[in-house]
Amino acid sequence: MSVEIKFVDAPLGHEIQGVDIAKGLSDADFRAIEEAYDRYGVIIIRGQKLSPQQQVEFSRRFGPLDRYVLDKYNMKDWPEVFIVSNIIENGKPIGLGDAGRYWHSDMWVTRNPSRGSMLHAIEVPHDDSGKPLGGTWFISMQAAYDALPEDLRSRIEGRTAVYSGKKYVDFRKSRTPVDPKTGQMSADDRAGMEEREKNIAPEISHAMVRIHPRTGRKCIYYSEGSIDRIEGYSREESEQILDALHRHIMQPQFLYRHTWKVGDIVMWDNCSCIHNAIGDFEWPQRRLMHRTTLGNPAPIFKESGVMETVEVRR
Ligand code: SIN
Repeated sequence: MSVEIKFVDAPLGHEIQGVDIAKGLSDADFRAIEEAYDRYGVIIIRGQKLSPQQQVEFSRRFGPLDRYVLDKYNMKDWPEVFIVSNIIENGKPIGLGDAGRYWHSDMWVTRNPSRGSMLHAIEVPHDDSGKPLGGTWFISMQAAYDALPEDLRSRIEGRTAVYSGKKYVDFRKSRTPVDPKTGQMSADDRAGMEEREKNIAPEISHAMVRIHPRTGRKCIYYSEGSIDRIEGYSREESEQILDALHRHIMQPQFLYRHTWKVGDIVMWDNCSCIHNAIGDFEWPQRRLMHRTTLGNPAPIFKESGVMETVEVRR
């Protein structure tokens, strides 16, 4: 086996070294990658060069794939590959430019959210001095769950949050910059917003604490700006709990910030972490990422929680 893990000083975001995915992975190497992915929630594999077909094949080793909900930005030949990009070609965006610019877990808009996502960096924007832009933040929701103060834990455990499509779209609009001269969003951002408005369900409910289907660990489930209410509480109580939860989750000890390089593959787990794409760049600075979305697996953990007993590295 050639896989090695280089640990970073965070609960997630550790680097897998010693693999060239395009050349093929032994079963032992693949198992080591999958185990690190399940255990830590975000793993980084640098220096890869995968065609869309190779990315789909590697992703399928983790199980069946989901397609991203906005089909418009899925590749024609490889519809399992969703294009995250601000690049405009022939006057049209080639991908979703403002994807993921808020704290969220992917595909919360569906009843059965996907297992996770794999993002492969094809082009990374940078400033005039060469400093990379367009990074991505990740927060470990299993570490945040473990550190919950008792009163907050007892207020969310066993509860259901009702997410609202309208609240989410309004929240995203409120965060999207407008041109000061025209008061309008960019054409690219407007296209993304219109797609969301067309496709999102009015309401969807999710447990506030989820049991990770592969490790058995408890994780807070939360996406900002999208939860209308927590069932069983008044609106006021709901808002207070959500504010307290947001403040708890946003602590630096749960956070990893990824600075992208061309060739990076980053995989994140949608149960054990949330993420936020940093929009600190602007066309003609170019960002192009290929994303595949892993389907939700059937639960495999044992009641005793095999992985709960394993030392979790920071
Ligand atoms: C996403 O949420 O899928 C996009 C993340 C990123 O572009 O960094």
